[in-house]
Formats: sequence, structure tokens, C-alpha cells
Amino acid sequence: MSMNLADCDRAREGFPRPFPNTPTNVLEQLSLRGKVAVVNGAADGIGLAVAEAMAEAGANVALWYNSNDRAVQKSQELASTHGIKSTANKVDVSNADSVQNTLTQVVKDFGKIDIFVANAGMAISKPILEQTLDEYHKQMSVNVDGIVHCSKFVGEIFKRQGFGNLIITSSMSAHIVNVPTDQPVYNGTKAFITHFGKSLAREWREFARVNIVSPGFFDTKMGASPECLNEAYRMSALGRQGHTKEIKGLYLYLASDASTYMTGSDVLIDGGYVLP
Ligand SMILES: NC(=O)c1ccc[n+]([C@@H]2O[C@H](COP(=O)([O-])OP(=O)(O)OC[C@H]3O[C@@H](n4cnc5c(N)ncnc54)[C@H](OP(=O)(O)O)[C@@H]3O)[C@@H](O)[C@H]2O)c1
Repeated sequence: MSMNLADCDRAREGFPRPFPNTPTNVLEQLSLRGKVAVVNGAADGIGLAVAEAMAEAGANVALWYNSNDRAVQKSQELASTHGIKSTANKVDVSNADSVQNTLTQVVKDFGKIDIFVANAGMAISKPILEQTLDEYHKQMSVNVDGIVHCSKFVGEIFKRQGFGNLIITSSMSAHIVNVPTDQPVYNGTKAFITHFGKSLAREWREFARVNIVSPGFFDTKMGASPECLNEAYRMSALGRQGHTKEIKGLYLYLASDASTYMTGSDVLIDGGYVLP
């Protein structure tokens, strides 16, 4: 950052950087043919939709799951439907060794990693005065430690390769104090990863892009709970939750060469929930 115009007058070596050598045709930019994507939380919900999007665009995909081994069958289906290579890997993201070892395995299996979608998350939605410390630690271990583990170890790979693309699933709850359920710990974990992701975008500027997706309520296991559904419909300008097919395009855009000028962005996709 320059402090004044005289400061600003000094040219910096290597600037401006060249434009990327990407296609000008936007549909060609969106192709992921030849790329390798890892998606965690990929057995269901938003993660599965994202894994589908990557495969539909031609990427080879590693689907990471924790407890839901439906990912194994989904991985086989994606491979046979789209003629891509796909694996399913069981990884608890709160376990740093497991994350690091599985990343090594993915590089062995696929040769590289172009895209990592850090999507796994969980919530124990309660006011802090009713939340146990164990519940607090559990949410921190998945939503914060899990993102840090994945970012740190995939970042080492990106740096070694000289390229990479990290996409973090945060939440509109990083932007607003969501209502009507008080859930300060979940909101706090998401605020952490949003700012962490923005900070990585700067730290990794020489070799990788980092962007954040902040969904509103989507109709998944982590969508609006039955007691909050009516409020979710009222708050969303579009009057409903999102369908997971409606988030695929955003992750594809961020994963692809259509977004080569985008890093450090936090994109809300919430049906207008945070507008009021
Ligand atoms: N749906 C919404 O309304 C909404 C809104 C804002 C943000 N989000 C965020 O979107 C992300 C995906 O959620 P979703 O809505 O798609 O719900 P979901 O289907 O329940 O997905 C959550 C995923 O996280 C994985 N996970 C949980 N603990 C894990 C651990 N220790 N290690 C590895 N993976 C773990 C689960 O894997 P297994 O099932 O294999 O255990 C599951 O696939 C989450 O980060 C969530 O916070 C969702």
C-alpha cells in the first residue's frame, strides 16, 4: 500500500502481471476438463451438488465423507455417468493427520489438486447459556479446525504446484445474527472461516485463489429446522429455501477459469435473506 502519491509513483518489478492465458469463450472458461477437484461433506446436501457440478463440467473428483458412505456409490455413479475418474475418501476433518494423509493419497491417485472445496460443517444450534462446553468444542473442531486443517495442508500442495483454488463454504450466519434460534457459536465459527478465507487470499496471492460462499437456508439436513421454517420463508425475499441445484453454478464459476480475477470474495447466495 502506498502512503502518498510519491510512494505510488515507484513502479514495482513484475507489475502489471500478465492476463491469464484462458479462453475468451465463456462456456470454454467454465469447462473443468483435465482438472482435479476435492469436495468434502460430499455425500449429501450442498457438497454432493458441488461434486456433481464439478463432474458435470468434466473434472475428476474426490468425494470426501465422514459418516455417510453413500459417497462411495455417488462417486461410482459420477464416474460412469460423466466418464471421469472419481474416488470416495473417508476423512474426519477435525483430525489433522487424517486430512494430511488423505490429501497425500489424492495426489497419488490423481497427480495434482486444482480445486479444494472445504464444505464440511455442523451445527448444535443453542444459546450459549444452554450450550455445553463439549458442544462448543465439537462445533469448533469441525467448522474451524476442519477448515484450518484442510486449508493448511492443501495450501502446501498448492504452493508446491504453483497453482490452486480453495473455496470455503461459510454461511449467511457469518454476516447476520440469524433469527429466531440463538446460535452464537455456529455464527462465530462461520465468521472465523470467512475472514480466514479472505486472509488466505492475500497470503496465497502468488499461487492460489481463495473465495468464500455464504449460503442462506438451503433445503438440506442443515437447512431451516422445522420450528424455524416459517421464519425462513418470511425472511427470504424469494419466500423459500434454496434447492441445492441452485448453488451448483456458483461453485462451478468460482472453481473455473471464468473467475480468474476473483479472489478474497465472499459471495452471499440466500434468496435475499439478509436484505432487511
Ligand atoms: N443448508 C443450509 O441451510 C446451510 C446454510 C448455510 C451454510 N451451510 C453450510 O453448508 C455446508 C454443507 O451443509 P449442508 O447444508 O449440505 O448439510 P449436510 O448435508 O448435513 O452436510 C454437512 C456435511 O458435513 C460433513 N461433516 C460433518 N462433520 C464432519 C467431520 N467431522 N468431518 C468431515 N465431514 C464432516 C457431513 O459428512 P457426513 O454426513 O459424511 O458425516 C455432511 O456431508 C456446511 O458447512 C453448512 O454449515 C448450510
